[in-house]
Amino acid sequence: MKRQLMVIALATIWAASFAHAADAEYGRRLAQSQCAACHIVAPGQRQDVAQAPPFETIARKYGANAELLVNAIRGPHPKMNFSPTDGETGDLAAYIGTLGR
Ligand code: HEC
Repeated sequence: MKRQLMVIALATIWAASFAHAADAEYGRRLAQSQCAACHIVAPGQRQDVAQAPPFETIARKYGANAELLVNAIRGPHPKMNFSPTDGETGDLAAYIGTLGR
């Protein structure tokens, strides 16, 4: 019984340490897998498909304002075939934010 409580406590600490902040590295991976079909998501990428704005352009437009970025990702985006969760949206915004610097 004690051992079980210990496991639960450790799992809680582990989960909490992941929940604290947006994860730009995870956002980058999401962008590569979910957004790169239409957007240029990283400076080295050759070509977009749907003439969507490159993420670098989006980064410059919204600067480091994560809230505006989050709204833009959630905003009218009829062709996007992927609905990020709140956490994923934060991670994507964190990643896009790194491109504007
Ligand atoms: C199927 C193509 C497609 C996919 C996939 C896609 N986008 Fe877009 N996105 C567009 C197009 C086209 C526009 C510009 C016109 C519009 O807003 O519909 C756009 C616009 C945006 C804008 C707004 C830019 C501005 O200037 O306000 C953001 C932010 C954005 N996309 C983020 C993302 C993110 C993050 C993903 C991946 C989770 C993604 N998009 C996936 C096609 C796509």
